Amino acid sequence: MTAAMATDSWALAVDEQEASKSIGKFRLMEAGDAPKSRFNGGPKRSDDCDKSDEEEKEDKAVQSLLNKLIRSNLVNNTNQVEVLQRDPNSPLYSVKTFEELRLKPQLLKGVYEIGFNRPSKIQENALPMMLAEPPQNLIAQSQSGTGKTAAFVLAMLSQVDSAFKWVQCLCIAPTYELALQTGKVIEQMGKFYSDVKLAYAVRGHRMDRSCKIKEQIVIGTPGTVLDWCTKLKLIDPKKIKVFVLDEADVMIATQGHQDQSIRIQRMLSKGCQMLLFSATFEDSVWNFAKRVIPDPNIIKLRREEETLDNIKQYYVLCKSEEDKFDSLCNVYGAITIAQAMIFCRTRKTANWLAGQMSEEGHQVGLLSGELTVEQRAAVIQRFKVGKEKVLITTNVCARGIDVEQVSVVINFDPPVDKDGYPDNETYLHRIGRTGRFGKRGLAINMVDGQKSMEILRKIEKHFNKKILRLDTDDLDEIEKIAS
Ligand SMILES: Nc1ncnc2c1ncn2[C@@H]1O[C@H](COP(=O)(O)OP(=O)(O)OP(=O)(O)O)[C@@H](O)[C@H]1O
Ligand SMILES: [Mg+2]
Repeated sequence: MTAAMATDSWALAVDEQEASKSIGKFRLMEAGDAPKSRFNGGPKRSDDCDKSDEEEKEDKAVQSLLNKLIRSNLVNNTNQVEVLQRDPNSPLYSVKTFEELRLKPQLLKGVYEIGFNRPSKIQENALPMMLAEPPQNLIAQSQSGTGKTAAFVLAMLSQVDSAFKWVQCLCIAPTYELALQTGKVIEQMGKFYSDVKLAYAVRGHRMDRSCKIKEQIVIGTPGTVLDWCTKLKLIDPKKIKVFVLDEADVMIATQGHQDQSIRIQRMLSKGCQMLLFSATFEDSVWNFAKRVIPDPNIIKLRREEETLDNIKQYYVLCKSEEDKFDSLCNVYGAITIAQAMIFCRTRKTANWLAGQMSEEGHQVGLLSGELTVEQRAAVIQRFKVGKEKVLITTNVCARGIDVEQVSVVINFDPPVDKDGYPDNETYLHRIGRTGRFGKRGLAINMVDGQKSMEILRKIEKHFNKKILRLDTDDLDEIEKIAS
C-alpha cells in the first residue's frame, strides 16, 4: 500500500506572523529538523534537500533504532495486556481472536505484523457490526487508548475494492496531526494490500483540479475534504461506501466542525455506511448523532465506565502561575518521566511555559495552532520518536494523539469551554494521552485559586472519580504515586 502526499508547497498556518512574534526564547523546531520519509511513499519535500546524505543516514538510523525500542516496549508490555484482555471488566477484554472476526488474510497479516495478538473489547464488538451484510451504521464509544482506530481502519480496509480506482472510503479527523497519525495506521494495516492506495486530504496537500483522485481511501480534515468534494470535485461523494468520523462528537458538535462534517455527510449516497467513533459523547451530541445517522447500531459506555482505572488523577494546589511552574519542577525532580504532555489554555501560556522549561534544561516541543502545518508535523514527529521528552500544547493535541511512552499528562490549566465552564469531554481526552492500551498513566492538575478548584471539583463530580491532592513539596509523596 502506498500513500500520496504533498509534494511541494505546504500551506501556512492562519496566523504565522503571530507565531514568529510569540515564539520567544526557546528553540523552535526548524522545518528541516523533521525526520525524512514520515509517510510511506511520500516524495521528498524541497526543504529537506539541504540535508547531507550523512545526516539523512543518521536520521534513518535513529528512527529505526527507536522503532525497535518501541517494538521491544510492546513485547515487554504483552504480559500486562494479556492479563487485561482476559479480565471481563477491562476495556481490553475479548473472548475472540482476530481470526474469529473473519478478517481477510492480508489484513490478519497486517494486524499481526503490527504486534496485536487479540482484539480489544471495542474491536471485538464493533467489527462484526461493521462487517455485516448489508453494511450497518454504527455510533460507538470506547475509552481513550482502547483501539478505536484499528477498529474503523479494519472496517475500511475490509470493504475496499482495489480493482476500482476511485475513492471508496473516507475518514475525517479533527486535526492535522490526528489525520496523519491515522493515515500511518491505515498504511501499516493495509501493508499487504499492494493495490490499495491512500491519499491525505490535509491543508497544504495541493491537488490538481483537473483529475479525480484514484486512491481508494482518503483520510483528512473536514475543511480540505469538503473542498475536495465540492470546489475541486476530486472526490465523488456518491461513490463512497464507508464514511468514518473519528472524534465524532467534536466533528458534529455546534462548537466543533459540525457545518463541514454534516455538509459532507449529506452528500453521501443512501447506501453509504456511516461510522462514528469517540471516547466521549455529551448527551446533546449523542442525540444529534442518532438523528443524523440512519438506523445506527450503538455501543455506549455508562458514565462510570468512561474513566480508566489505569490513569491515576491528582491535583496540586498552587498560589500563582509561577508557583505552578515550581510545582511542575518539583514533580520533575522527584519522578522519572518517560514523556509528558502539558496542556495549557492559551498559546501565550504555552509559549511562556516552553521558555521557562527550556531554561531549566528540558528539551521541549511546543505545538499550538499558530504554527505552520510543516512545523506542527515536525514537532509531533520529534516528540513521537522521543527527541523531545516534553510536549507543551493547547487543546489542539487533546484528542487521539497516540504516544505510548507518555507516562504523565499535566493540565497546567483546567480545560474550560469558551464560556469558562468545565469542559468534561476535553478533560477526559487530555488525560487519555497517557495510559494507552492498558499502560499505567498519571494525570496531574495544577490548580491556582478558587475558580480552577471549582472547575476541577465539577469535573470530578461529573465522572464520579476521585482526583486526589498531591503535595509537591513532599518528594516522598510524589515518588509514591509514581511507583
Ligand atoms: N488489539 C490490540 N492489541 C494491542 N495493541 C493495540 C490493539 N489495538 C490497538 N492497540 C494499540 O493501542 C494504542 C491506542 O489505540 P488507538 O489510538 O486506536 O486508541 P483510541 O481508542 O483511538 O484512543 P483515543 O480515544 O485516545 O483516540 C495504539 O498504540 C494501538 O497500536
Ligand atoms: Mg482515536
